[in-house]
Amino acid sequence: MRRYWHPVAASSKVTSRPQQVRILCEDLILFRDGSGRPGLLYPHCIHRGTSLFWGHVEEDGIRCCYHGWKFDVEGNCLQQPCEPNGGVNRAAHRQPWYAVREQYGLVWAYMGPPEKMPLLPNFDHMEILNEGEFYFVLDNSILSHADLKGPSVVPYSWLNLNENTMDPFHVYILHANFGTTHFIPDFAVMPQVTFDEIGVGTTYTASRTMLDGREMKRVVTWIAPNMAVIPGSDAGRCDALAIFTAVDNEHSRTFVTKRAPAGFTEKDIFEGKGFAAAKPWTQMTVEERQDAPNDYEAQSSQGPSGLPSSSNEHLVRSDIGIGIQRRVLRREIKKVGDGKDPINVAFRPEEATIRTPSGNVFSNPQA
Ligand code: FES
Ligand SMILES: [Fe+2]
Repeated sequence: MRRYWHPVAASSKVTSRPQQVRILCEDLILFRDGSGRPGLLYPHCIHRGTSLFWGHVEEDGIRCCYHGWKFDVEGNCLQQPCEPNGGVNRAAHRQPWYAVREQYGLVWAYMGPPEKMPLLPNFDHMEILNEGEFYFVLDNSILSHADLKGPSVVPYSWLNLNENTMDPFHVYILHANFGTTHFIPDFAVMPQVTFDEIGVGTTYTASRTMLDGREMKRVVTWIAPNMAVIPGSDAGRCDALAIFTAVDNEHSRTFVTKRAPAGFTEKDIFEGKGFAAAKPWTQMTVEERQDAPNDYEAQSSQGPSGLPSSSNEHLVRSDIGIGIQRRVLRREIKKVGDGKDPINVAFRPEEATIRTPSGNVFSNPQA
């Protein structure tokens, strides 16, 4: 995971108010300086350890509250006001920092070996913003809940979420045939499913006859190691990207960024969907959650670690996608261990674009 860029926050949430973020088991301080540059620093001031959470942001950096040392977004010490001449030796002191970039409405960080820092990838389906469009970011890890007001961080591994993306059969059971309709009623029809390994990861194609007689082909892509392009039920190419960020081994955070037209809101996500009328998850009692469980109930109760050894699993035919994902991850972990570069890491611009076939195609037999 240290060989990839990871989103740490929605750009719109990164302000001059310092905030604590946890990612890849590290606690860090995220802020935006007065000139608009985001910064991600080690929390404890290298002077005597006070947290920069209590610091104040200025035009060119963040100032520690205890003795006023000031650091820029790359950790350079700009001032030591209690030292002679503002700290003649301040260049010898650097606050640990990570590289950050902004793209698709998200602040991304690279926390790996500096000499192996790859390019931040492009995703061709996200690249072109038409007039008035913007990147709408959902910072919510329970995306199939009616109010999208669930927690941003959930108490289970990114692997639980990752494996959900290559699991078309839970869409048929959990989301359509188990107490309520989370997406569209048509998902209550059992699909024919094929899995295909593609260069960037794996796809599944779920084909089903819709309730109105049309044939629907829904293609979902998992991008190794922790991203997915998951269409809803609308026709055409998917216009969103989901990233499952590892907070630590037992917590994760899902960011979804979507190309959306001007004025687009959370309400638009539910327009015409079955869950528009459902009770918000945050207001449901335990009994109501038993009556109509959702991804949170299914995934959190698998156990926090998401590792096969931690649960009593019995993988079967319908788990082919999970098997492919695990094989790919093991293969790539071995590559890194052998000193090679893993999948979807690029150093040359012409190799830094990720393409996926995700989307929905409808064919009308009457047409
Ligand atoms: S502890 Fe930060 S300036 Fe002293
Ligand atoms: Fe789901």
